[in-house]
Amino acid sequence: MAEISSRKQMTVNSFKKKKEKGEKIAVLTAYDFYMAKILDRAGIDALLVGDSLGMVIYGEKSTLPVKMETMIHHVRAVASATDYALTIADMPFLSYQPSEEVAITNAGRFLKETGVQSVKLEGGIEVAAIVRRLFELGIPVMGHIGMTPQSINRFGRPRVQGKTEQSKQYLIESAQALEEAGAYSIVLELVEQNTAKEISGKISIPTIGIGSGPHCDGQVLVINDILGMYDEFQAKFVRRYADLPDIIEKAAKSFISDVKSGTYPSQDESF
Ligand code: KIV
Repeated sequence: MAEISSRKQMTVNSFKKKKEKGEKIAVLTAYDFYMAKILDRAGIDALLVGDSLGMVIYGEKSTLPVKMETMIHHVRAVASATDYALTIADMPFLSYQPSEEVAITNAGRFLKETGVQSVKLEGGIEVAAIVRRLFELGIPVMGHIGMTPQSINRFGRPRVQGKTEQSKQYLIESAQALEEAGAYSIVLELVEQNTAKEISGKISIPTIGIGSGPHCDGQVLVINDILGMYDEFQAKFVRRYADLPDIIEKAAKSFISDVKSGTYPSQDESF
């Protein structure tokens, strides 16, 4: 990892170059100022303000209810905390699908009102025209194919994609169409690992996998998952790096006990 002091702010171009250099890319989600500061300081390559916040922050059952206004608040907090990582705002359900005009208005809002550097949107060939239009207007776009959570009602439940020849062909053609439209990177979510490998070899922009095996150019995980801060559902591909609920519970219990016993605050902790 580069020394923090010598790190420069990541741009979509330096992000793309990592693939040319054969450097793996590490991406995490972040939703608030302080968490973004910590992850940025830790050396993360990019921070995604995912619409997963609907589930892990707001307790919704899916990402579908997430609104633009909610995203704008969280994206602004993350973008203002970040000095090095590339920042990415996830476009929520129906903020880009209806038309190119709607997509331009909402993607434009993210760049104008939050300081974020790029946006992410879900879909393959069917959204390539929207990606192209945003790219032409100077709005960098990360694509997202495979098991796309905004289409959960079509999938029924999270299912690995790219297992059949037809599904594999659709994913390969989608990745190529997104690259051709100007996308600077593509998330592959729950893509069968050999298909993910084939896609990664066929396009020159980085693939960022989640549940798609080790052959992608980088990996993304949801911060709450790796800290154990989401227990509604634990996917097989998630590696838990810390048990934050345990640490928080212990801290809260100590505080409660100190208050009840009268040992907090001491005279030194008072004005
Ligand atoms: O919303 C999100 O956090 C995402 C990632 C899981 C890729 O889209």
